Amino acid sequence: MTEPALTPEATRPEAARPIAIFDSGLGGLTVMREVARALPHEDLIYFGDTARVPYGIKSPQTIIHFSEENCRFLCERDPKLIVVACNTASAAALPHLREHLDVPVLGVVAPGARAAVAATRNRRVGIIGTEATIKSRAYIESIRAVDPTISLINRACPLFVPLVEEGRTCDDPVVRLVAKQYLRPIREFGADTLVLGCTHYPLLKAALRQQMGRAVTIVDSAEETARATAALLDEMHLRRRDGETPAYRYFVTDNPVRFASVGSRIMRDIIENVSLVDLDAIARRPS
Ligand code: DGL
Repeated sequence: MTEPALTPEATRPEAARPIAIFDSGLGGLTVMREVARALPHEDLIYFGDTARVPYGIKSPQTIIHFSEENCRFLCERDPKLIVVACNTASAAALPHLREHLDVPVLGVVAPGARAAVAATRNRRVGIIGTEATIKSRAYIESIRAVDPTISLINRACPLFVPLVEEGRTCDDPVVRLVAKQYLRPIREFGADTLVLGCTHYPLLKAALRQQMGRAVTIVDSAEETARATAALLDEMHLRRRDGETPAYRYFVTDNPVRFASVGSRIMRDIIENVSLVDLDAIARRPS
């Protein structure tokens, strides 16, 4: 008997499983927002490790350990794909997660790197991220793997995350001053492309654009990751195509009320269904 032909337009039963997204806190909602926009029929589960954020100042060992625990929790919800929305976790833990999990895992670094290579005209690219992301050189290696001739400059911008967490926005004078200081060397380097290598930075895009000038292309790894997620689902024939209203669930390791209120601003939608996860219980689960 011949196998029935794969019809990509039909939703296969495995495709009904959710996409899981994790981040160190609430910044990864910038990625969730773009994934929701690119894939409007998918059920999404978001995990924010709000008790242990920030990851950007932690050691690679600790980031790997936390990332593995988060993924173990998510795997119990049977996702078809895990998106590591956190740039710091993508930079430090992606190879480890891929090696140890049965479910496909997508990070934000490679999509952002590919987009930067495609965007640059003068072959000069700037990268900004947390201390851990910059120290890992993950973006540099990913861009060089695509095109070793591109000149790169990178810069850790540790103040941006707390500024966003505090609710400061692009027109805030402190944000502008900090952006000016951080971005000066990248401007002087003559980069025509700037990679936002952190979940929080898309929320400061207008302030960063003002410092870099309109001619510079800003690569938002959240948007690029959403595109890569859609492409990977298509490749695996796991994209959900029927018109049901998708379900969004949120899990956090601390302070669900704050997550819902700040997160609703990021998602530009009311966040409901936030559950508190017991970190000790996660840590006790067998690997
Ligand atoms: N989610 C982190 C990132 O994208 C930023 C916040 C943190 O330091 O944990 O790198």
